[in-house]
Amino acid sequence: MSQEGASNSRRRFLTGAVGVVGGVGAAYVAVPFLAYWKPSARTKAAGAPVEVDTSTLEPGQKINLTWRGQPVWVIRRSEAAIESLAAMDDTVSDPLSNVSSQQPAYAQNPHRSIDPEYLVLVPICTHLGCIPSYMPQAGSLDADWQGGFFCPCHGSKFDLAGRVYRGVPAPTNLQVPPHRMASNGSLVIGEDPEAA
Ligand code: FES
Repeated sequence: MSQEGASNSRRRFLTGAVGVVGGVGAAYVAVPFLAYWKPSARTKAAGAPVEVDTSTLEPGQKINLTWRGQPVWVIRRSEAAIESLAAMDDTVSDPLSNVSSQQPAYAQNPHRSIDPEYLVLVPICTHLGCIPSYMPQAGSLDADWQGGFFCPCHGSKFDLAGRVYRGVPAPTNLQVPPHRMASNGSLVIGEDPEAA
């Protein structure tokens, strides 16, 4: 079992819900923690924004979904995780997210998101496209590990904002897709705040 899998198996199951904004039937589906949400072919074709109910997401947990045919993770960061980010600035290669292609302008901040508590990422390694493991626990990879993402293919590491470590094969931070907070507190993936 992978480290992520082992870690996840210890957590209790999460019941979450995702739906298509403006939905055709807006089917809210109860999914177990780490279940993979598969949109209909119609949704995929349209690339419609996806609304994610984060109300039952606890600190450290994540929801997996698909938007425009690519995986997206929504992670609720703990207070400790948010506080740990500032200490990572000397460890990561682009602490200020200066590579503008990797996030919308409104996510070019220390936590790389609209809301510091919620990280929204495309979990595709920027080296050769493997899916990194989510390892939120400090010390779970090595003694210096403050939590983050580890790519098992060639060893790239990213912090809990998806910022790439110095000296690893991946050249840039993980990508942050467009997202906004809906008035009901849900997250909408695939829309900028201006569209709200
Ligand atoms: S694909 Fe992730 S380090 Fe190479």
